[in-house]
Amino acid sequence: MTLETLSPTDPFWERHRGLYPALGRYTYLNNAAIQPLPAPVAEALHEFIRAASEDDPDALYRPDVPSRLRATYARWLGCEAKDLALTTSTSDGLIKAVNAVRWREGDEILIPQNEFPSVVYPFKMARMHGARILFAGEPGRPVTEEDLLAAVTPKTRAAAFSWVSFSTGYKLDLSTLSRALKERGVELVFVDGMQGAGVWPPRLAQSAVDFFAFQAVKWIAGPNGAGALYVRPDLWSDLDNPCLSWYSVPCCDDYSLLMDTQLEPFSSARRWDGGTPPWIPMVGVQAYLDLLEPAGPEGVAARAVHVMALLAQRLESAGIGTLVPLSSSSASSIALLELPDAASMHQRLKDAGILTSLRMGRIRVSPHVYNGAEDFDRLVAVLTGSGSACEIS
Ligand SMILES: Cc1ncc(COP(=O)(O)O)c(C=O)c1O
Repeated sequence: MTLETLSPTDPFWERHRGLYPALGRYTYLNNAAIQPLPAPVAEALHEFIRAASEDDPDALYRPDVPSRLRATYARWLGCEAKDLALTTSTSDGLIKAVNAVRWREGDEILIPQNEFPSVVYPFKMARMHGARILFAGEPGRPVTEEDLLAAVTPKTRAAAFSWVSFSTGYKLDLSTLSRALKERGVELVFVDGMQGAGVWPPRLAQSAVDFFAFQAVKWIAGPNGAGALYVRPDLWSDLDNPCLSWYSVPCCDDYSLLMDTQLEPFSSARRWDGGTPPWIPMVGVQAYLDLLEPAGPEGVAARAVHVMALLAQRLESAGIGTLVPLSSSSASSIALLELPDAASMHQRLKDAGILTSLRMGRIRVSPHVYNGAEDFDRLVAVLTGSGSACEIS
């Protein structure tokens, strides 16, 4: 067995679960909102701050942190480090991407219905140049690859979508969809990867995706603020950079160049980096991804599939359906339960110490690699009325 193919039932996962102190207090099924911090991540953050406070203020200056994180993110995303700009949020990445394009009068931008607003608002800027935003699919229903492809017109210049929908849990097939869009003449594909990165390997270099933005905090533990933007390398020279900063040019690495006002931007996606990086969230995220290194991206995805199969078994035997069937290849780690009176059930789950979200009138269950059968037994016991409530400590 290689490290890349760590089995989804390897004892590694039980040990990993033991690293989350909060799991002693809650049944946590709410990763699409936020991921609890494992203790080693909290320790790495404490140590970083302690060293700067007690040992040496220079401990706050850590250029090795962003360069290591860029390389680690590249491995998880299936691209090269030079293809990534470091950002502070998904929105930061998408805003940079949208503003890098020279939009033209009449360009159409296709976006699915039910999108998270991070995908919608950055594109409104393109309207200043005469572009139009069009929505595909039906409100309240999963928007599929077919829905998006059917909505392409000869004027569709760009498509922008969440890889995994926060509101339906539908996971679009990045590789197939991005290629099919290009075959239909769509020039640019923008992806919000926030609800997928850290669980599923997007294998960006093998896709036809042009921009992919995400940050940690949901499926990648760490304080928020450490994101990245992938920019497809053959686009770099055609794009504008309205966000040029001193971190876009080599003087940020070589202070002897600080007085040079004629520096060329990095010949990599680093040209979209923006200012001194937020070291603190980066330290946390790096510590988290280091914890998962023995599993690697493929091992994490295999574990996520296993965890969702455990959930599917429990829900099926209780006769509870999900908006996207969990047996479908478009299922993700986000399941929207089909239940009457979801709001009061959501509260009942909360009273029983089971944390989920309520989204668009449905209960959203979003387990991660540390969840297991016992969590789903507890969930289903409350959903079916056979579970006893306990108070959150
Ligand atoms: C699909 C999706 N994109 C983006 C975000 C957050 O965006 P940002 O990183 O800009 O805060 C969320 C948060 O819930 C989300 O669900």
